[in-house]
Amino acid sequence: MAKKELKWYKIFASTEDANKQVPLNTTKRARIGTQKVCIAHTSEGFFAVDDECTHMRASLTNGRLNNFSEVVCPWHDYRFCLKTGAEKSGKNTTPLETHKIEEREDGIYLGLYKNPKPPQRDEFSY
Ligand code: FES
Repeated sequence: MAKKELKWYKIFASTEDANKQVPLNTTKRARIGTQKVCIAHTSEGFFAVDDECTHMRASLTNGRLNNFSEVVCPWHDYRFCLKTGAEKSGKNTTPLETHKIEEREDGIYLGLYKNPKPPQRDEFSY
C-alpha cells in the first residue's frame, strides 16, 4: 500500500496574521481545492480538522469552541476533540480527520494528505 503523502499549504503569513484572522476561541473555514477545513484557535493553539461533522455533515466552522479544545457541532451539539478528532459526548460516531498545523519562519502552514480524488483546483481560499 502506498504511503500517504503530506502536502503543505501556507494559510497565514505569520502568527500575528493568524491571530488577527482567527482570534482566540473562534474558527475559520479554509478551502483547499474541494476540501474544507475548520481552523480553530484555542488557548492551546491552532488546530485543523475536517469542516464537515461526521454525524450529518454540518459545518463545524459554524459551531463553537469550549474550554477543553473541543469543537461543538451547531446542529446536534456533538463534541469533537480538536487534537484527536474523537467524539467526546458519548455518541460513538466516527472521529473527525485531524490535520497538521506547522508554524514556520515565513508563516503558518496546513498539512493535508492528498485526497484519493484530487481537487479540481489546487488553491487556497477562505
Ligand atoms: S450534524 Fe453534527 S452533531 Fe449532528
